[in-house]
Amino acid sequence: MIMLVTGNELLLQAQKNKYAIGAFNVNNMEIIQAIISAAEELNSPVILQASQGGIKYAGIDYIAGLGKIAGRNANVPVALHLDHGTDFDQVMLCLRHGFTSVMIDGSRFPLKENIEFTKRVVDIAHAVGVSVEAELGKIGGTEDHITVDEREATMTDPEEARIFVEETGVDSLAIAVGTAHGVYRGEPKIDFDRIKAIRELVDVPLVLHGSSGVPEESLRRAISLGISKINIDTDVRATFAKGVKEFLLENPDEIDPRKILGPARKAMKEAIKKKIEIFGSVDKA
Ligand code: 13P
Repeated sequence: MIMLVTGNELLLQAQKNKYAIGAFNVNNMEIIQAIISAAEELNSPVILQASQGGIKYAGIDYIAGLGKIAGRNANVPVALHLDHGTDFDQVMLCLRHGFTSVMIDGSRFPLKENIEFTKRVVDIAHAVGVSVEAELGKIGGTEDHITVDEREATMTDPEEARIFVEETGVDSLAIAVGTAHGVYRGEPKIDFDRIKAIRELVDVPLVLHGSSGVPEESLRRAISLGISKINIDTDVRATFAKGVKEFLLENPDEIDPRKILGPARKAMKEAIKKKIEIFGSVDKA
């Protein structure tokens, strides 16, 4: 029996051995079970992450409860992480509910304010042994109507990243290098040189957000250049929705939630297994 582990325990190992840990967004029991069974089958560590929206939907007691049950029952290491915490009180609530990793996202602030905002959380989280991820640059969504030049301006500056990590003492850093949250219209253009430049100046694990829809070769290249955590939400959502739709199209009179959700859970598991294989964390549990 392994209890929840911290983000640091997983990410430092990944960084050292040049693979990435998959961090999958969770909103309900079926998604959590799909992630855990995929990770167990591949003997891979994994991160369950809940966004503020996910917590609002399920309730923090349910999400934290499910996460802890997953950590206790799984035979692979599991961390429970808050994704994109933008609110100080929300982060504190997650610490109280047993999350073992939190993201504090102060990317909307100028550098100095982001440092102050992040450091306040780092000091408190570290006092209770919880790892902290922060964001520098703005990752944004695929729906943002911004030009290539504007996107460039939101990317993480390597020298600022060095200063940010040094001054905040944060454990891992989400960097803006051309990916975005949601469904891409074309192929995302990742600035690999930027990942390399940041890696050379920053010594903590680096995190890639918006990784759904990013081609396999690009993910592998990003990992080889120093990405240690890869966030996936949209691809699992799409697999869930497809599974439910397909089942109901074929069985329009079915009313049993177990029969409706079961095939989607199985499909999500297979999709997650493919990601874990790409991330290189198979047999790293
Ligand atoms: P996608 O929805 O693009 O996979 O992004 C997930 C993410 O980065 C969560 O923080």
